[in-house]
Amino acid sequence: MSHQKVEIFDTSLRDGEQVPGCKLNTEQKLILARKLDELGVDVIEAGFPVSSPGDFQSVVEISKLMKNAKVCGLSRAVENDIKVAAEALTYAKKPRIHTGIGTSDSHIKYKFKSNREEIIERAYAAVKYAKSFVEDVEFYAEDAGRTDNEYLAKVCEAAIKAGATVLNIPDTTGYCLPQEYGAKIKYLKEHVKDIDKAIISCHCHNDLGLATANSIEAIINGARQVECTINGIGERAGNTALEEVVMILKQHPYLNFDTNINTKHLFEISQLISKHMGISPQPNKAIVGANAFAHSSGIHQDGVIKRRDTYEIMDPADVGVTESAIVLTARSGRAALAYKAKNAGYDLTKLQLDEVYLNFLHFADKCKEVNDNDIHQIIETSKIYREIKSA
Ligand code: KIV
Ligand code: ZN
Repeated sequence: MSHQKVEIFDTSLRDGEQVPGCKLNTEQKLILARKLDELGVDVIEAGFPVSSPGDFQSVVEISKLMKNAKVCGLSRAVENDIKVAAEALTYAKKPRIHTGIGTSDSHIKYKFKSNREEIIERAYAAVKYAKSFVEDVEFYAEDAGRTDNEYLAKVCEAAIKAGATVLNIPDTTGYCLPQEYGAKIKYLKEHVKDIDKAIISCHCHNDLGLATANSIEAIINGARQVECTINGIGERAGNTALEEVVMILKQHPYLNFDTNINTKHLFEISQLISKHMGISPQPNKAIVGANAFAHSSGIHQDGVIKRRDTYEIMDPADVGVTESAIVLTARSGRAALAYKAKNAGYDLTKLQLDEVYLNFLHFADKCKEVNDNDIHQIIETSKIYREIKSA
């Protein structure tokens, strides 16, 4: 069975940039947008043009620059927002306006002080107005995760009737469970009239650590676009991490989904985002964290030295990481020490290794990690090594 294409919609420069203290200027956004285009994302959400003159300019410049990716600008369901987004996208080869409104009872009652019928009318009018500027209009039903499915289907129907090409179903508050979110997508696929005129997009937040699981469930149930960010950056606990979704689909080929992403660029772009935003992913972050391919316990190290795939389910080279790391700590075993010693130029005999290993353990117990210089020192000061060497 041939693989189905899942579009990758990167919102690192919009939702991702909402991380407090991580605002990007236009120059930085351009550097990152160029890299995202090279990475192979299908859509770049470049900003929220009405929000500030700087963000407007960023969307203008990114629109001029993009060779392959569609360029998207965010707006509320407000005429002026939409008009300004359209202006900012003037130079884009493939412009998309992303407009929408909150649809949960909480948003309708407390944010808009409105009612369900009026929200449907506003959704319809926003999409219709956006269509007067561009062909490609994505509609978001904010807080769709907490919107009841029957009403959500009615909102989606109105958006499609007005010409929406993409329906974004955000779990804005990161509340849904995977099966619940998957069932929501399935419900829309089965109940929204003319659903085939639009593609369904998932947009998940990570408040309960479920953003990636929810996105995968959405794809399995019919979503064909995933909204995500590099390193999972974003509002509060962040968004779905692009690198996680892409590698899950790649490492589980029987799911039958493909993306356009050149995975070999993933580590590099993760580092670039960290540099420009001033925050690094936590060391144990899947795919791109500093420890994602590092092995420190003796049992694991022994396995990996014998054959990498005993403890690694993907090749680090596939995501642009040069090699797996063997990290020496007090939990490391003889095999790892012999391996690191050999790399440092010492071919230890069994007898030498036995003594050096004991000295190593005494040293390692007093520190967090044993580095290459320490190894030299431990070996050179081991009595048996000196005796055999000078014999
Ligand atoms: O999380 C969300 O609902 C959003 C929308 C603006 C798409 O970011
Ligand atoms: Zn969001």
